Amino acid sequence: MFTTTKTRPTFLKKTSPPQPTTTVMAPTTSKTKRPIFPIQSSLLTTLLCIILFTIPALLLLHTPPASICNPFSTTTPSSFSGDLRSAEFSWNRLSFSSSIPPPVVLKIAVFTRKWPLGTTPGGMERHAYTLYTDLATRGHQIHIFTSPPFEDVSLITANTTNAPIVHFLEDAEPGQWRYNKAWEQYEEENGKRPFDVIHTESVALPHHKARDVPNLAVSWHGIALESVSSSIYQDLLRRPVEPMSQSFNKSLQVMIPKVLNEIRFFRNYQHHIAISDSCGEMLRDVYQIPSKRVHVIVNGVNENDFREDPESGKKFRSKIGVPENASLVLGVAGRLVKDKGHPLLYEAFANLIKKYKHVYLVVAGSGPWQQRYMELGSQVIVLGSMNPSELRGFYNAIDIFVNPTLRPQGLDLTLMEAMMAGKPVMASRFPSIKGTILVDDEYGFMFSPNVESLVESLELVVAEGPRRLAQRGKACRRYASSMFTARKMALAYERLFLCIKDETFCIYP
Ligand SMILES: *[C@@H]1O[C@H](CO)[C@@H](O)[C@H](O)[C@H]1NC(C)=O
Ligand SMILES: *[C@@H]1O[C@H](CO)[C@@H](O)[C@H](O)[C@H]1NC(C)=O
Ligand SMILES: *[C@@H]1O[C@H](CO)[C@@H](O)[C@H](O)[C@H]1NC(C)=O
Repeated sequence: MFTTTKTRPTFLKKTSPPQPTTTVMAPTTSKTKRPIFPIQSSLLTTLLCIILFTIPALLLLHTPPASICNPFSTTTPSSFSGDLRSAEFSWNRLSFSSSIPPPVVLKIAVFTRKWPLGTTPGGMERHAYTLYTDLATRGHQIHIFTSPPFEDVSLITANTTNAPIVHFLEDAEPGQWRYNKAWEQYEEENGKRPFDVIHTESVALPHHKARDVPNLAVSWHGIALESVSSSIYQDLLRRPVEPMSQSFNKSLQVMIPKVLNEIRFFRNYQHHIAISDSCGEMLRDVYQIPSKRVHVIVNGVNENDFREDPESGKKFRSKIGVPENASLVLGVAGRLVKDKGHPLLYEAFANLIKKYKHVYLVVAGSGPWQQRYMELGSQVIVLGSMNPSELRGFYNAIDIFVNPTLRPQGLDLTLMEAMMAGKPVMASRFPSIKGTILVDDEYGFMFSPNVESLVESLELVVAEGPRRLAQRGKACRRYASSMFTARKMALAYERLFLCIKDETFCIYP
């Protein structure tokens, strides 16, 4: 039951009362196995509140209409026509014209805390960069309002036409974000010729500033309701004898107020962009944002950086010393920290290699768990951080990509990168992953974020072997290139911005 996605009770939403034992999978099933100690009782109360609060949400999340989550269902969005604002599936599924120039050249203001320059940026910064570099290339006039970089600005200011114009904050420390200052600079630029659309990455522009701006859109890269589940999963991995850390305990206390707060202020933003189908549902169903103001546009990855390239995969394998007699090679990439689920994978893989001597794990990335992985011996190959071209080799060298994340916030780009490179994926069973990435059993495997469930999935993968996994990889590649390219994302954003500027563009096709 941990690895199938097809059977989804679509009737639960309206008819059934909350039944945690059958619907909230991971948290409750694991909890019942755990002995209850007095020390945990206050935690349990907290968790209970959280769970009670989240059940309605989870119920909603786990019951999306089949048409959203199953690309092969009869009502595919390819037959969609009408007002795009009423589309509840992700806009990446539609096809928008890429003709240059676009029908209207837009002047767009972007508020983002960071704008990447050279250094390896996080997901949110990469998103802004990929998106706006592309929209600028298409001829739109893009103004980025962001904090000063750590690098010397004079060396890096782009001097090409068709590049975003970056306004670094004046009188601020590198990396320091001051929205008031950014707003002043925006107003000055807006005075010259008014902006058609304003876009903020998360709360870079706070709600009290955004409130009175009708042509504003916000992209949410993770919301508080998602972090509630994240905390549940993380704490469930704590052993009974292990005390809860002070900081984690503290974070639990402020969590529900944070969700409530978000629900109250989110409505001040006019248009909402969710980066996963499940986040879109939460915004509509739990955050009570009118459906027509919620739009799902999934992030994209650069199709040139991540593609099928078996040759580079072979070379990479021999370079890093995967022996010829390896029967299966798993890969994991990203920051090697606790909340990305590395304790989980560490333990599960340690378990697995007791039984299978020809199975290898390749670890790309850096972080505290790098050292621990090295302790596992020769069946784990630890590589450290990789640049994009090395990453391409990495993805092509493996048979399957594992992402044991405990953070359901947003959506990890690594899953899309692996699929773009033609690899199947194994990932934690989260609504975001289930609703947008692993929408078909063919694409890979999902496990509950606990060691037993992961081991169970790993065993299935070992039993299948590389040939079957390669077949799955082909399907992944097809799906990913129809959904997760940077170009797809940029065209969807462009269309939304056009629709905000002029309603006639809201009608599709
Ligand atoms: C969390 O903190 C509260 C108050 O600060 C304390 O009463 C409680 O015992 C702590 N819970 C755990 C599980 O450490
Ligand atoms: C930017 O480009 C223009 C024309 O291409 C050139 O005249 C100008 O000197 C350049 N500025 C800098 C700072 O390189
Ligand atoms: C696999 O091959 C390596 C050398 O490439 C060898 O050292 C090792 O013993 C082999 N492992 C098994 C289990 O046959």
